[in-house]
Amino acid sequence: MGVTHFDTIIIGAGAAGLFCGAQAGQRGQSVLVVDHAKKPAEKVRISGGGRCNFTNIHTAPENFLSQNPHFAKSALARYTPFDFMDLLTRHEITWHEKTLGQLFCDGKSGQIIEMLLDELQAGGGQHWLETSVERVAATEAGFALDTMRGALTCDALVIATGGLSIPKMGATGFAYDVARQFGHEIIETRAGLVPFTFSGEALDDFLSIAGTACDVRAASGKGRFDEAMLFTHRGLSGPAMLQISSYWAPGAEIEIDLFNGEDADALFKQMKAERSRQTLPSALEGVLPKRLAALLGRRGDVPDTRLADLSHVALSDAAEHLSKWRLKPTGTEGYRTAEVTLGGVDTDGLSSRTMESRHQPGLYFIGECVDVTGWLGGYNFQWAWASAHAAAEAIAAR
Ligand code: FDA
Repeated sequence: MGVTHFDTIIIGAGAAGLFCGAQAGQRGQSVLVVDHAKKPAEKVRISGGGRCNFTNIHTAPENFLSQNPHFAKSALARYTPFDFMDLLTRHEITWHEKTLGQLFCDGKSGQIIEMLLDELQAGGGQHWLETSVERVAATEAGFALDTMRGALTCDALVIATGGLSIPKMGATGFAYDVARQFGHEIIETRAGLVPFTFSGEALDDFLSIAGTACDVRAASGKGRFDEAMLFTHRGLSGPAMLQISSYWAPGAEIEIDLFNGEDADALFKQMKAERSRQTLPSALEGVLPKRLAALLGRRGDVPDTRLADLSHVALSDAAEHLSKWRLKPTGTEGYRTAEVTLGGVDTDGLSSRTMESRHQPGLYFIGECVDVTGWLGGYNFQWAWASAHAAAEAIAAR
């Protein structure tokens, strides 16, 4: 069988890989994108509840976690949310801001996949699905690949196979294996943007009010977010929990302000003044979801006592306890449900301008496989677009 040559081969037809292929093709490169899955960009399809939260207008380097917080700056500055919005406009895709700068399609997320494939085609790029790559080797001229569909060569090779989240959807550690092969370090990976699990009494408690949600201020490590929290049959979820899960270390406590930054001490004293005959848990039903207020009384988080019988000190203690409600998760739901993978290809081995390997000229890593992980809210796709754009620009200029 003969060897087929492309200027650029991209492994991974997800958000980053398709966009990179489109951008490189439109800059004159012959491009092939290969993927082992049956369909391209399946994570785009399921993202944002089927409407793809494709970017966040507040994107800034501070919205990302990485061993090197400066790494993402260059790529993010050179391809912004507004550039991606312009592209959507050209494809007549409409969107809306849901909350906190998060942009979602008005229609289905499939529109974004169609747009990516149209853009790839506009640059003359091809994509081969259900094609596994068995071997990657550097040659004098570039790279040689053994695939299920035969031998391939290319001048530039882009690895865009994402992270380990949701193995059921075909996630693999391929990018890390290739990175190690070429002498890169891997920052230890772990599940991010993932629900917390609890066990024992705490789980029984949370299970008893599963489905209850409330707005909280949640903190773990350096992460602190004002968003909604949801009690589930496994523990705690909702945007606030997903956000802080990326900052959580196993064994650590998380801290939840059930009053979302409000002065609980003043609130409790006002409740005592106005409703002194009620018990504290029943008075709390006016400010927290009823089932949660009752649970806090049952668990003994607050005294199940009439407000009239509680001293100011006892009220202050209860207010302090609920605004710093400390819980110790057993773990997280792990890669099975995580939206992202933290860690990955160490940015020390990559150029922040081009995403090119410092060890192997012509080799690029983009998207989620790199140790750059965004918050919940469209930041991860913006990183996929921006890192893909940076690599494509550099490849075309080689
Ligand atoms: P991505 O995972 O998209 O693509 C990797 C591709 O490589 C896949 O097509 C895979 O099949 C292929 N591949 C893997 N191993 C391979 C191998 N060995 N050989 C060949 N191909 C291989 N982000 C956001 O900004 N807004 C949102 O709304 C959401 N919502 C969301 C929901 C859910 C349920 C999940 C799981 C994730 C999100 N995300 C998100 C995160 C977002 O989906 C993610 O960050 C990007 O898809 C990453 O893009 P990549 O192209 O890097 O990887």
